[in-house]
Amino acid sequence: AEQNRELREKLLRLKKERNAIILAHYYQRDEIQEVADFRGDSFLLAQKAAATDAEVIVFCGVHFMGESAKILAPNKTVLIPDERAGCPMADMVNVDGLRKLKAQHPNAKVVTYINSSAEIKAETDICCTSSNAVKVIQSLDAEEIIWVPDKNLGHYVQQHTDKKMIIWEGYCNTHDMLTVKHVMEMKAKYPDAEFVVHPECRPEVVAMGDFVGSTTAILDYCKNSPAKRFIVGTEDGTGYQLRLDSPDKEFIFATKFLVCPNMKVNNLKKLVKCLETMQPQIYVPTEVADKARTSLERMLQVQ
Ligand code: 13P
Ligand code: SF4
Repeated sequence: AEQNRELREKLLRLKKERNAIILAHYYQRDEIQEVADFRGDSFLLAQKAAATDAEVIVFCGVHFMGESAKILAPNKTVLIPDERAGCPMADMVNVDGLRKLKAQHPNAKVVTYINSSAEIKAETDICCTSSNAVKVIQSLDAEEIIWVPDKNLGHYVQQHTDKKMIIWEGYCNTHDMLTVKHVMEMKAKYPDAEFVVHPECRPEVVAMGDFVGSTTAILDYCKNSPAKRFIVGTEDGTGYQLRLDSPDKEFIFATKFLVCPNMKVNNLKKLVKCLETMQPQIYVPTEVADKARTSLERMLQVQ
């Protein structure tokens, strides 16, 4: 506790000196969420990065999030506490594969989940996050959609649109681990609880949800629901904000495996260090960034 207090004081000092803003995804460790200027889901954090006046953005999340911030704010310095914090789902799609698919479906528009590399975004018509995926798809004047990389979210979105979706086979290792059996066991144990679930989970698990939505949608739902107990089907870091919003409610994670190891690579110590040393920084080649920016900006414009 003493060490954390010292780290927090140092962080405050450095933040002022560097004119920096700290953005933290809801899946980050509590010790990082505590000190962030903004906590958010991937959509809100992209908006904040695009709009900030600060000179330095410290992005506490995984690599593609820092990259998106750099693409949206190319003149700012973007730091991440540990560059090894990747996203296995983002790595499941490659440029060659996507180009092949585009050649096979020349009339399709490419919709890419923000959980992807800058190179993939550069090959994309429009990005989306789990909070706006359906809206983004409905905004397009195309009947055919190439969807990368999350098959689970793709399946969920397909149920809410008549457009034909060609869905890539990627998935989130963390959310995909949750099974029907886990949820059935929890529901049997806590029959009064509502099950809230992220659409990155398997379709058959999502189908069991009393509520399905992105991180922010789940937070809003739990805050406003009259239920007192929830079985949570998303990453364990969301517990921080869930408990902050509703200290009188109980949140039980559907398994103890709902932890994204990549998100947890970051910690308070590394956060302070990156602001001290101004390393590691995110770089995106200008050519790639210019192409990728269009797809992110289009997403930000969809109401
Ligand atoms: P959201 O923040 O959009 O809910 O995304 C979940 C996720 O897996 C981020 O890596
Ligand atoms: Fe990637 Fe899943 Fe971790 Fe999000 S939770 S960063 S999608 S591995």
